[in-house]
Amino acid sequence: MGALPSPKLLAALLLAACVGLSSEDGDLWSYEGDGPEHWSGKCKDGKHQSPIDLGSGGTVESNFESLSFINYNNIYNGNITNNGHTIQLQVTDISHNIMLTGGGLNRVYSLAQIHFHWKSEHTINGKRYPLEVHFVHFEKRFKKVEDAVKVKGGIAVIGVMFEDKDSRNEIQVLDQVKDLRHDMKKNIKFSPASLLPHDTSKFYRYYGSLTTPGCDESVVWTVLSNSLPLSNKQISLFQKVTDSKGKFLLSNFRPLQKQNDRIVYFQSSPPHQVPYHSSALSLKNSLSIMSSLLIVLKLK
Ligand SMILES: *[C@@H]1O[C@H](CO)[C@@H](O)[C@H](O)[C@H]1NC(C)=O
Ligand SMILES: [Zn+2]
Repeated sequence: MGALPSPKLLAALLLAACVGLSSEDGDLWSYEGDGPEHWSGKCKDGKHQSPIDLGSGGTVESNFESLSFINYNNIYNGNITNNGHTIQLQVTDISHNIMLTGGGLNRVYSLAQIHFHWKSEHTINGKRYPLEVHFVHFEKRFKKVEDAVKVKGGIAVIGVMFEDKDSRNEIQVLDQVKDLRHDMKKNIKFSPASLLPHDTSKFYRYYGSLTTPGCDESVVWTVLSNSLPLSNKQISLFQKVTDSKGKFLLSNFRPLQKQNDRIVYFQSSPPHQVPYHSSALSLKNSLSIMSSLLIVLKLK
């Protein structure tokens, strides 16, 4: 028979356990049990958190230039892993410089990883989709995600919704989700563009946070309006993913957060099809007229 631990030791153990649970870089958070309502730090007291419903709080029409997805179309060597919270895709050789810019972002971002949420985290006019993919980028001037995450706009995430259609989606990476148990890795070849809709001209834009602990408020969000199709069977593959305890990760979306004082922009018309009286257009016109004049002057 061992002696009972002293009250002091008990208190120390308890404290250690609490610190462990609130650790931000640990892996001790989950979607059930000690779920999202128990996440601490910014997750608890932040005012610019994600996800939100897009549309119901009103939107402001934007007229940004098109989004540029640079080197998204090539096929890369990569890996697909189950980290217990999500299924994640990464390009193995990061020197490829898969980048995102334009669309009012005003900065250049590099792709870090791609992961999935089932069901969708954002909702659009109250509608929740069966699956949402997140392309996580960090501002290129930083060396790594961990540095960019401390700066507002240091992270840019593209969200794409999948819609339950009767048609199978031929995206090959989706089939790799099958039998991907916790901590398992498969080497794959994939093209990031295969997870984007053809038309990326319509999107929602707002400033928010990571949707997992520590919920840093550094993310400029772009959620595309056009979705991709997915069959019921493909959706069910995600529901068979297991977490670190070997339990089914039936869903992994964070509940909706308050919009508070934030503006949600909606880019609905193709870029540059702006009304005639728009100042942006007339400035652009004057500039091109001026440069033509300069060319004429030079020729003389
Ligand atoms: C997957 O690839 C990334 C990028 O090269 C690498 O950092 C990561 O360690 C790989 N994952 C596993 C589980 O090997
Ligand atoms: Zn995500």
